[in-house]
Amino acid sequence: MHPIASQQRWIDRARRVLPGGGFGNFDPGIVIREGRGAHVWDEDGREYIDYLIGSGPMLLGHGHPEVMEAILGQLPKGMTFFASNAAGIELAEAICEAVACAEQVRYVSSGGEADMYAIRLARAFTGRIKILKFEGGYHGMSAEAQMSLAPTRLANFPEAVPDSAGIPESVRAEMLIAPFNDVEFLQSLLAERGEEVAAIIVEPLQRIVPPEPGFLQALRDLADRYGVVLIFDEIVTGFRLAYGGAQEAYGVTPDLCTLGKIIGGGFPLAAIAGRADIMAHFDKAAVGADKWLMQLGTLSGNPVAAVAGLKTMEVLRRPGQYDRLTAIGARLMASASNALSARGIAHQVVGAPSLFEVVFTETRVRDYRAVLHADADRQSAFNRALRAGGLLKSPGKTYPCLALSEADLTATEAAYARAAERL
Ligand SMILES: Cc1ncc(COP(=O)(O)O)c(C=O)c1O
Repeated sequence: MHPIASQQRWIDRARRVLPGGGFGNFDPGIVIREGRGAHVWDEDGREYIDYLIGSGPMLLGHGHPEVMEAILGQLPKGMTFFASNAAGIELAEAICEAVACAEQVRYVSSGGEADMYAIRLARAFTGRIKILKFEGGYHGMSAEAQMSLAPTRLANFPEAVPDSAGIPESVRAEMLIAPFNDVEFLQSLLAERGEEVAAIIVEPLQRIVPPEPGFLQALRDLADRYGVVLIFDEIVTGFRLAYGGAQEAYGVTPDLCTLGKIIGGGFPLAAIAGRADIMAHFDKAAVGADKWLMQLGTLSGNPVAAVAGLKTMEVLRRPGQYDRLTAIGARLMASASNALSARGIAHQVVGAPSLFEVVFTETRVRDYRAVLHADADRQSAFNRALRAGGLLKSPGKTYPCLALSEADLTATEAAYARAAERL
């Protein structure tokens, strides 16, 4: 339908109709034409090994044949209904089976929405207003989530700094910000303000920074002591760190979690899942009009997304999948590190095998500020070199996927070595 156009033509067209020339997500200087397995091609036909994987959802790779079959089976039966449908119900059952905290599920269309409603739900349940989040923690784009995600100034904790224009001061005033992995700070903050706090929302593995041993359990204990709802944002970690997500991997069960990305199999679907007594606030008949959280959405429980997610999860449940993902990721982490060490470049490879990043610092990376103080110029140069070497990745994350072949891994290792040499 479109005339054959070079990438530059698309970029020019995008500049006219899209603010910033793109969708706001990623480098607008690349336009993706297609993806297959662990590879994507840009509009100039240049091929990349894909470590962006749609920012996480495509854990099985692009166009997985069984997922495609499930989607193509659903399409002629209907693309969206607004009403309950079997695929959405089955997906909720599968989530409840997989995820320790999930007794019930409510669907939305994006991870950011899931986080926004999880926060509101905690407020409805506790009757409290304050939300504790961690500096650098990403929970979508709601006003609350846009506090101290990437603060332009480093305030004294627990003061919140808005990341975005257009957010009322009143929201800032209701947020408490803490450093990730700092149990002592949390203990003293909650000793003082615990009774005001509705929820602690946390990425159990924050961006790429793993929780230190005992940190998540400390959150669990503090939440119990002060009657606070503990929310794990598992949009990224769900079905990635383990089939049961971070709560399985780290052995700590929150009250609520949010899920997205993988559970929609590449389609817009996300969810809030958790304890039935808290989830009851989505049900007016159960809690009454005063305590009811009104929530609906045109595409919620979309059947195409649900069958894609269900099939993705079925494939992930097969024996050996997470062992393989771990082996792939561990190998890549080691090769990146070896390549940089061979050149004497100070760095750390931070994260988990299923999600990691090279950080150019010698300081132990335990929170947002440690990442911030790393060598950003070196990071950009490394990323540019990897792109030139045929890898597509986000500026701050590397997402391995299960479609990577031995040849892809060897090519990636060579790209790491060349990039280290260029630095
Ligand atoms: C931890 C986390 N929470 C929430 C979100 C928001 O999800 P979405 O982009 O689907 O709104 C993201 C997106 O990357 C995320 O990484």
